[in-house]
Amino acid sequence: MAESMLNLQRTHRCGELSAQNIGESVTIMGWVQKNRNKGGLVFVDVRDRAGMIQVVCEEGKTAAEIIEKAGKLRSEFVVAVVGTVQKRSGAVNPKLRTGEVEVFPSELRILSESETPPFPIEEDLKTKEELRLKHRYLDLRCPDLQRNIILRSQVAALTRQFLAAEGFLEIETPILGKSTPEGARDYLVPSRVNPGQFYGLPQSPQIYKQLLMCAGYDRYFQIVKCFRDEDLRADRQPEFTQIDMEMSFVSVEDVIAVNEKLLACLFREMMDVELVLPFSRLTWQEAMDRFGSDKPDLRFGMELVDVTETVQDCAFVVFQGAIKAGGTVRGINAKGQGAMPRKKIDKLVDFVKDFGAKGLAYVAIQEDGSIKSSFGKFMTEDEMSALIHVMQGETGDLLLFAADKNKIVWDVLGNLRLEIARQLEIRKQDEFNFVWITAFPLLEWNEEQERFTAMHHPFTMPMDEDVALLDTAPEKVRAKAYDIILNGNEIGGGSVRIHQGDIQSKMFEILGFSQEQAQAQFGFLLDAFKFGVPPHAGLAYGFDRMIMIMAKKESIRDVIAFPKNKEAVCLMTQAPDVVDEKQLDELGIKRKEFQ
Ligand code: AMO
Ligand code: AMP
Repeated sequence: MAESMLNLQRTHRCGELSAQNIGESVTIMGWVQKNRNKGGLVFVDVRDRAGMIQVVCEEGKTAAEIIEKAGKLRSEFVVAVVGTVQKRSGAVNPKLRTGEVEVFPSELRILSESETPPFPIEEDLKTKEELRLKHRYLDLRCPDLQRNIILRSQVAALTRQFLAAEGFLEIETPILGKSTPEGARDYLVPSRVNPGQFYGLPQSPQIYKQLLMCAGYDRYFQIVKCFRDEDLRADRQPEFTQIDMEMSFVSVEDVIAVNEKLLACLFREMMDVELVLPFSRLTWQEAMDRFGSDKPDLRFGMELVDVTETVQDCAFVVFQGAIKAGGTVRGINAKGQGAMPRKKIDKLVDFVKDFGAKGLAYVAIQEDGSIKSSFGKFMTEDEMSALIHVMQGETGDLLLFAADKNKIVWDVLGNLRLEIARQLEIRKQDEFNFVWITAFPLLEWNEEQERFTAMHHPFTMPMDEDVALLDTAPEKVRAKAYDIILNGNEIGGGSVRIHQGDIQSKMFEILGFSQEQAQAQFGFLLDAFKFGVPPHAGLAYGFDRMIMIMAKKESIRDVIAFPKNKEAVCLMTQAPDVVDEKQLDELGIKRKEFQ
């Protein structure tokens, strides 16, 4: 039977009590973690979001009625305890903040009872994620998830405080907007009052924030939900949160400076880590050439080496074929891995196939100086030693090579580098390595659609010195775009925007928009730019990814209160779901039959 909390007022959170409260009379409320009956002594652990406190009932000292009630408590009952804080009579628990004290109760009320939960509420649960997501409200009681969600709230609060002090205004932009698919697919919302018409949920507030710059607000930010209908992974959700910002009358350097200051502040206050400013920077080209990725993890080396020139005359047809087709041959040196068993190397070959590799060639330099190689028989002794030399190969090293189109070679070796680092556990978990990637290509050739697409988005400014190339060699144009990478994760990105009508028109033309199409999709922005647009630039963080790394988690699901699974389903509410025919009728929507 649930009791009322009438006349009781909580005085402390459970986890807040410490030796300083000894002798005080307190009222705590929370969930029963467990109770233990040790003949004459009943210990009840009571938990809330701040932590846990032990309540002790002792025969002869505690009222019989309380002891009886305490004996009936089961996990996840909600209780109120009035009592006195005292020094622990038994062993002190140094793992708990409240480990030196306990509460000696003078009143115990059961505020609500609980069925046996489908999994225990504890740190580091091994229960299947599916079951946890179905009962997310229980999962969210676990201390590790609570820490993540609290961290998230604190980082958001600190971000707001920091940006406000830097003169940024927090301005909300619409969720019901215009569908402008570029990049991912839009989520659509049918309009009842305008039958047959749809809103698009924003993939980001990009266009609105640029319009706010046109409107003179000069420094904008928002912690905002974004929606993208794309394939989901550990670091991608269909709805996710950005810390979004835009600034007027600024250059790349100004955006970078204020953001380094923001990150330094967040890491100092929340993580007690002093970041060294300025962060290092790599151009996109350097990042690809050295790490095979535009989001390189710089916590370790194992850099890519271009050996095309060194092997161009050798007799290995795999290398020859790739070079003749305009590709390259590159390698990485897995230091000290020369004795890797053949089976394990074969696993690496399988691994790289997922990234389009046709194979992986290797040279293992044995402890006795001999060489094992999948292509040794095609190389002269001189060619082999030249190759080992450029790879800085030493006794005991394993050299791995990929030969193909650049894009594939980068992807293969970039991912192989990460896989080997993962297997060898060479990345420090407590290191936070930031790097800016700059000078991205403006455009990307889309083989399927046989046209250029914008690498960042269509409003990104080309580098001044490359503007002339827009007419002659668009693929060579570099953009004033930048990404911020933390430990190999893209946690944010942005750019300087085009504010000149002629460059924007040219950009749309290159992207294959006719003037009419550009006008139909982005006319309001192009019109706005006719009325005095300031030069502007901005950036957006993937807030969930940032918190994931701060919380040292592998998935953004661990830092989102109510995430969706990989099929974009909320297992708790079962959204998305079918709706009433009546609702569809009102919207003028007819369902197609699905098998
Ligand atoms: P971009 O598309 O790079 O830029 O997005 C910014 C950041 O958002 C995060 N992110 C995601 N996080 C979780 N789930 C997703 N599905 C997802 N997609 C992206 C990434 C990414 O770096 N308007 C521009 C920013 C600008 O130019 O100012 C934009 O949205 O961490
Ligand atoms: P094959 O001639 O296909 O038996 O390949 C000989 C060796 O070259 C094997 O070790 C293959 O894994 C490797 N190999 C095949 N294609 C490539 C490639 N594109 N890049 C690097 N190594 C390759």
